[in-house]
Amino acid sequence: MKSLRQFFGLLACCVPIIASAEGSAAVTLPSLTEPPADIGNGKKVFNRSCAICHGQKGSGGLGPALKGIRDRLAPEAIAAQIVQPKGEMPKLYPKPVGDQELRDVVGYLLSLE
Ligand code: HEC
Repeated sequence: MKSLRQFFGLLACCVPIIASAEGSAAVTLPSLTEPPADIGNGKKVFNRSCAICHGQKGSGGLGPALKGIRDRLAPEAIAAQIVQPKGEMPKLYPKPVGDQELRDVVGYLLSLE
């Protein structure tokens, strides 16, 4: 009985790791322009889900500063980091950041100077 539980414990632990390793091959992004981004809502999404690491208005902190990110990264590259984060950033997509929130927060980041 104990070993059965260990077996299922092992399954629970390892299946998501295998799944995420497979998922890293390709990133499928939703449209970033249709429907259009709502930058005001993007700011709310940012303050709720991102500012804790990236600072108010993207000034930086635990995560890199995101001010002026439009000069460094294409919108698709910003979205890809949210959909399938590299490094120490947690996966926030598709929850709490869904397709519309993704569009909105990318729009907000592109507006930061
Ligand atoms: C727990 C902390 C944390 C949270 C929350 C977080 N990030 Fe990050 N983010 C990071 C770290 C750390 C990196 C650097 C990753 C690496 O090593 O490449 C990063 C990288 C990025 C980058 C790439 C920056 C660059 O210069 O290449 C973008 C864009 C980004 N985050 C956007 C967001 C957005 C948008 C949110 C909210 C939806 C968010 N992050 C939430 C920690 C966080």
